[in-house]
Amino acid sequence: MNRVLVLNGVNLGRLGSREPLIYGSTTHEELAETCVQTGREVGVEVEVRQTDDEAQLVAWLHEAADAELAVVLNSAAWSHYSYALRDACSQLTAPLVEVHISQVHAREEFRHSSVISGVATATITGLGIEGYRAAIRFIATL
Ligand code: DQA
Repeated sequence: MNRVLVLNGVNLGRLGSREPLIYGSTTHEELAETCVQTGREVGVEVEVRQTDDEAQLVAWLHEAADAELAVVLNSAAWSHYSYALRDACSQLTAPLVEVHISQVHAREEFRHSSVISGVATATITGLGIEGYRAAIRFIATL
């Protein structure tokens, strides 16, 4: 795969100031730069987007489905209950890697299940920002 969309959902635009003990001090802008840089290292063009609007995220997933693009997705809180996002993810034909910055299984019970995992190629949870780098590197091997 030579192109990857990194899609971040609700509240992730507040990385850096949002609960830094859980999510770290890296801002979303810095995360985006890290993802683009990782892509350069492995020969993949990476585009990073973030939205607090679920409909926008669904539209981006439709775009990825139509263009057969690989997706790295952190759908944040939506991961735990949005069947609409799951249905959008089901339409992807290229790999989908679900990423969570925090170790969701060691947190509140409502975070233990993801409606996305069942339609994802892989799920990475608890590696912090490194999880995005691992996801991009994995996609580059395909
Ligand atoms: C998250 C975990 C979710 O439970 C939470 O709602 C988020 C971020 C993570 O990256 O660890 O917003 O997806």
